[in-house]
Amino acid sequence: MDRVGERGYAPVQGAHMEPKVLISERDITGKVDELALRISTDYADAGDLLLVGVLKGAFIFLADLSRRLTIPRRVDFMALSTYGDGTTTGAVRLIMDLRTDIRDKHVLVVEDIVDTGHTISYLLKNLAAREPASLRCCALLRKRERTRVEVDIAYLGFDIPDVWVVGYGLDWADRYRTLPYIGVVDPASQ
Ligand code: PRP
Repeated sequence: MDRVGERGYAPVQGAHMEPKVLISERDITGKVDELALRISTDYADAGDLLLVGVLKGAFIFLADLSRRLTIPRRVDFMALSTYGDGTTTGAVRLIMDLRTDIRDKHVLVVEDIVDTGHTISYLLKNLAAREPASLRCCALLRKRERTRVEVDIAYLGFDIPDVWVVGYGLDWADRYRTLPYIGVVDPASQ
C-alpha cells in the first residue's frame, strides 16, 4: 500500500520521483482567494452565476473557487477531448454536455489550463451559440508560448513556461491529479 504523505497525498505507484514544485499550495490558495474576490465583486449584481467546469482537469480548481465565492452560484460540468495531442489540428469533441439550459444566464467557464487555446475557443463558441446573458472564462494556468488561438481569459491565475505540469487537477497519463501543488514532470523520466 502506498505511503500517505503529510498532506494526505499518496505518492503514485510506479512514479520515479515527486514532481518539482512550480507553484506551491500556499500560492495557489492565495491566487484562488484573489480570483474569487474579483469574481464575487464583478458579479455582485448579476443574480445567479453558473460555473461550468471543464473535466477532468478543472475539478479541484472549480471545487476550491466555487466555495470561496460570496455570490449565489451553481455548478455544472462539460467534458471535451482533443484528437491527437491537440496541437496540430485543434479538433475538439464534446463528450459530455451541460445539464443546464444557459440561455439568459451568466456563465463563467472554469479551466485548469489554457495551452494552445483550442479547447477553450471551441467551448466558448459552442456556449455562445446558446445565447447566455454573459460568457467569460477563468483559467488557473496559461502557457503563453503555446498559444495558437487567442482567447480572452477574463480571470487568469498564472502564466507558466512551456513545461509539463501536473497536480491540482492536472495529470500526466491520468496520474498526479490529486497532488496539492502544481509540479513539473519530465515525461521522458516517467
Ligand atoms: C487539458 C486542459 C484543457 C486543455 C487545454 O485537458 O484541461 O481542457 O487540455 O489544452 P488546449 O488549450 O491545447 O486545448 P485534457 O485534454 O488534458 O483533458 P483532462 O482535463 O481530462 O486531463
